[in-house]
Amino acid sequence: IPVAAVIPAAGRGVRLGPGAPKALRTLNGTPMLIHAVRALAASRHVALVIVVAPPDGAAEVKSLLDAHALPDRTDFLVVPGGDSRQESVRLGLDALPPEYGVVLVHDAARPLVPVDTVDGVIEAVREGAPAVVPALPLADTVKEVEPAAVHGDPEPVVATPERARLRAVQTPQGFDRATLVRAHETVTEDVTDDASMVERLGLRVVTVPGHEEAFKVTRPLDLVLAEAVLARRRL
Ligand code: CTP
Ligand code: MG
Repeated sequence: IPVAAVIPAAGRGVRLGPGAPKALRTLNGTPMLIHAVRALAASRHVALVIVVAPPDGAAEVKSLLDAHALPDRTDFLVVPGGDSRQESVRLGLDALPPEYGVVLVHDAARPLVPVDTVDGVIEAVREGAPAVVPALPLADTVKEVEPAAVHGDPEPVVATPERARLRAVQTPQGFDRATLVRAHETVTEDVTDDASMVERLGLRVVTVPGHEEAFKVTRPLDLVLAEAVLARRRL
């Protein structure tokens, strides 16, 4: 079954602070998006990568892809994104040719995911799981709070879920194509990942091991960490 990857890259990156859209910011001189595209195309199973560009930036993203060396065996498409991550992913799925039966959804903001993590997700989908997420145990204890009305006010703790049962999930998340399309057609609530939409359909989502280097570049410190990881890899 041919595998395609959708890379939502249309976000502004508000938490990273002022500057270009997050996916176009550079890490050691190369745009984050190019690192992310290379990370997915590094898997020999991934035959097509669909990049969901900032709404007004599709032309710029196309020329970026043309300007950087990418594997010949992989095809690339660029489509403009939407106002939410969910909408951007849906716009990417709309552009997916019929022959692809397995779809990965991967944040452009996770530029350093190792190929073994990508291949682990693909393998689990090919073995029959309709939805697969890479996951890691948490270092921090997590509290549920009653959110404060005013930012900075103290927030009462409501509960402490048992840490050993919690996982932080990453991307790429992998799906049977029909399942993901149905999830995007059916679920209208706001979500923060694609697998949770499949959970709402009542279907089983499974985890495979994630990787520390698949962390999401979200805040300024994450740029420092990402560049250090790249330097260690000599990229
Ligand atoms: N994304 C997208 N379209 C949007 C919003 C987000 O394609 N309308 C993408 C981002 O480009 C990113 C991924 O979804 O690759 C994960 O989102 P996040 O890390 O939250 O990125 P941003 O939304 O850009 O950052 P912030 O929330 O800090 O603004
Ligand atoms: Mg966001």
